[in-house]
Order: sequence, then C-alpha cells, then structure tokens
Amino acid sequence: MQYQTFPGSKQEISVIGLGTWVFGGEHWGGGNPADSRRVVEAAMEAGINFIDTAPFYSNGIAEQIVGEAIQGRRDKFFIATKCGIIRENGRIRHDLSAASVLKEVDASLSRLQCDVIDLYQCHWPDPDVLIERTMEILFKLQGSGKIRHIGMCNADISLLERARRVAPVSTLQMQYSLLQQEAEKEILPYCLEHGIGFIAYGALGGGILTGKYRSYPQFGKQDARKRFYRFFEGDAFGHAYRVAQMLESFGHPSSQSALNWVRGKKGVLTVLAGARTHLQLKENAGAAGWSLSEREYALCGQTSAEGV
Ligand SMILES: NC(=O)c1ccc[n+]([C@@H]2O[C@H](COP(=O)([O-])OP(=O)(O)OC[C@H]3O[C@@H](n4cnc5c(N)ncnc54)[C@H](OP(=O)(O)O)[C@@H]3O)[C@@H](O)[C@H]2O)c1
Repeated sequence: MQYQTFPGSKQEISVIGLGTWVFGGEHWGGGNPADSRRVVEAAMEAGINFIDTAPFYSNGIAEQIVGEAIQGRRDKFFIATKCGIIRENGRIRHDLSAASVLKEVDASLSRLQCDVIDLYQCHWPDPDVLIERTMEILFKLQGSGKIRHIGMCNADISLLERARRVAPVSTLQMQYSLLQQEAEKEILPYCLEHGIGFIAYGALGGGILTGKYRSYPQFGKQDARKRFYRFFEGDAFGHAYRVAQMLESFGHPSSQSALNWVRGKKGVLTVLAGARTHLQLKENAGAAGWSLSEREYALCGQTSAEGV
C-alpha cells in the first residue's frame, strides 16, 4: 500500500480507501455483516487504513459493523463518517442544522464505539440551512474533540468558499471515475490549489468497471447501483462495458486499472472502493504500488460517459 499525508496533519492515510455503502446491504441487494467484518479485516491486512462510512448506509448498520470490526484496534484506522441525511418515517431529508448535527455526531460515535471521529463530512448540501451555521457547529465539535477534521461532499466551489471562511475544510468527496470525469474541470484544480484533499468515490462506477457485467443486471428499484450510478442501462451500459473491456486489455484486473487511473491524478488524496467481500477488497488493494503506462493513461482520459 502507498500512503499520503492527510492535509494539516501528520496522519498517513492509504491511497486506496474502503467504502462501506454496501455494508448492511440495504441499497445494495442485501448483505451479510460477517462478510463486511471480514472486509475490514482484509483491509487491515492489505494496509488500507482509511474507512469511509455514513449513518445513511443501511440506516446506521454500516457504521455499527465498522464499529464492531475495529474494536481493539481503533488506532489502526482513520475513520471518516458523515452527517446531514436523515431518515424519518420512511422518508429521507437533508438536515445540516446545528441541532441535527449535534444529535447525529453522538449517534455516530456510539455506533462506531469511538471517542473521536477522524473526519466528519457534510454528506450532501442542505439548501435550507446556511453552510456558515453548519460550519460553526462543526468547528465547535472540532474544538470539543469529538471530531478531528471537517470535510464536505458533493459541494461546488462557491459553497466550499463560504464554508472555508468559517472553518478549515480538509477534504472534499466527489464522484470521480473513468465514466464521470467532470471533477477534473474545476473542482479538482480548486482543491489542489487550496490544499484540500480530494476523496474520489464511485471510481468503480458502482461495480461496472470491474468488467463483471456482460448484460444488463437486474437490480431492485431502490438499488443504489441503478439509482445513483447511471451506467447500468441503455447507451451508458454499452459505453461502460466497452471501457471495462479496454481496461481488461491492460493486463491488470479491470478494477485495479480503474482505481489506479483515479489514484494517479494529482490532488487525489485517496480513492474509495466499496467491497462486498474480502476477495474484492484484496483485488482492489492491488491498485496501489504501480502505474498505468502513459498510453493507457491517455486512453483512459477519453472515456467519460458524459453525453452518452
Ligand atoms: N459522499 C457521497 O455522497 C458518496 C456517494 C457514493 C459513495 N460514497 C462512498 O464511496 C464509496 C465507494 O463508492 P461505491 O461503493 O458507491 O461504489 P464503487 O466503489 O464504485 O463500487 C463498489 C461496488 O463494486 C463491487 N465491487 C467492488 N470491488 C469489486 C471487485 N474487485 N470485483 C467485482 N466487484 C467489485 C461491489 O458491489 P457488488 O458486489 O454489489 O457488485 C462494491 O460494493 C462508498 O462505499 C461510500 O463509502 C460516498
């Protein structure tokens, strides 16, 4: 594994991070907690110390599984979780108000069985709450020692600028993959310029860039792979399939080439890869420690699915 220094600290974090949206399986076609705990075990063995989770993932179950899996070895991991997506009476809403964030942080600490969260991220912008108010409360939480660093997800530059006037923003988490290269245009250069660590998610396109789908998969209506990642239907599927085939021709597992391409981009702090099984995790961890050739890199730069 390779490591990079987390902005504004001496903490080294792995260039491949573990994503846990699949844990608990609620939006991911079911899941087995024992498998997920084994994934965390395999992450440690592979030198992956960055784990990203959220209360939203299987309604707290993902955080709970992470909490159980890291018991007795908390110091071996850098734990990132999030706030701002709330479930209530079967509905989902955004809430980054101070009162809600205060409730959420304690609930996350309890599920994670930790005293401190290493990186606390706003999961999604909340149009009804001024970001300045959210940052004030996050800054207080940092001062009180419940969180170490503040991060944002899915924010544009103007929101980031406003947030940074109130408190330091260490990271930005966005979708970035061979199929979704939009971040390269403005946001990644902005992060690089301002010392904000860019955390890439969806680098496997929800699994499609592993090359395992030869025909349209049948997912449930609420399945995140279909609802959130829009590569599993129509023209986008055909395009993703061709990209995965191109990756296969590079001589590494497609998953590794997909992750390696993102990982090699300047300004990217860590690339999150979700894993359902320890074998997937092991394969994904192999994306570190080598580089695509210049030619392969250039070919990958032309594969964004925008406009497909
Ligand atoms: N901040 C945000 O708004 C946001 C949004 C999305 C994601 N995230 C974070 O980013 C992480 C990564 O993104 P993601 O999990 O959504 O998508 P992803 O990493 O693109 O895809 C992960 C999925 O691909 C499949 N897979 C992974 N490795 C594989 C391998 N080697 N061989 C075959 N299949 C493999 C697994 O699902 P199957 O076994 O079902 O195929 C796995 O759950 C998330 O887990 C989450 O922590 C954050």
